[in-house]
Amino acid sequence: MSGVILETKNLTKQFRGFTAVNDVNLKVQRGHIHALIGPNGAGKTTCFNLLTKFLVPTSGQILFNDKDITAAKPAQIARMGVIRSFQISAVFPHLTVLQNVRIGLQRQLGTSFHFWQSERALDRLNDRAMQLLAEVDLTEFADTVTVDMPYGRKRALEIATTLAMEPELMLLDEPTQGMGHEDVHRVTDLIKKVSAGRTILMVEHNMKVVSGICDKISVLQRGAMLAEGTYAEVSRNPQVMEAYMGTEAAELEGAH
Ligand SMILES: Nc1ncnc2c1ncn2[C@@H]1O[C@H](COP(=O)(O)OP(=O)(O)O)[C@@H](O)[C@H]1O
Ligand SMILES: [Mg+2]
Repeated sequence: MSGVILETKNLTKQFRGFTAVNDVNLKVQRGHIHALIGPNGAGKTTCFNLLTKFLVPTSGQILFNDKDITAAKPAQIARMGVIRSFQISAVFPHLTVLQNVRIGLQRQLGTSFHFWQSERALDRLNDRAMQLLAEVDLTEFADTVTVDMPYGRKRALEIATTLAMEPELMLLDEPTQGMGHEDVHRVTDLIKKVSAGRTILMVEHNMKVVSGICDKISVLQRGAMLAEGTYAEVSRNPQVMEAYMGTEAAELEGAH
């Protein structure tokens, strides 16, 4: 298997004549934490939705492990090991943290989940769920009703339910959005930890997170690829600095 796990070829998305993603050639290396960044309106979310199959491209191709997945449905790529982090709204707020992870595990089993109705199998399901909670440092919250957890912990739960699907490639959409410093730090460490043996592609605004854990960064501007490289490389690229002029320039520098 090649070192490239995910590749796009001339990926393009137009909305009624407006080109939101323009001829993007992206290569994500296996084992990397790869960030997609860019100023507001650059096309990050559109690109993410193309990769997760929530949007159909106007033209171009998407390859996962050298297989063409351009026409695949979200559920199909999930079975192949490409898992998008679930939004918090997809976690059941009035169930406990443990119950939510169990649902994630059952979802992965799909139609065969009746198998789990035997008692021994249910024990194994619980064991695996507790293992996942330990991995994201939520053991003490197992019996907490999800709605009662602090925001940052809910994002950790979201990562646990994603891990339940056994992703080969995890796609995270702004995992630290709306968090205070402490939660940002915790979730950043968590992403680093769960990246072992996996590949992670994330859209992320926080430059401290990007500079801290990402192996490679792709910068989008007006739908097109502006620059690629390590944080050190892209952050001193004059075109990138110009693209971030204004409020976000400070952010880019502040991460050093
Ligand atoms: N469904 C849509 N219909 C029309 N224009 C859209 C749609 N989605 C996004 N756009 C436009 O595409 C551009 C890129 O948007 P987006 O991908 O959300 O950027 P980012 O996530 O980088 O801020 C923006 O100009 C936005 O207005
Ligand atoms: Mg966006």
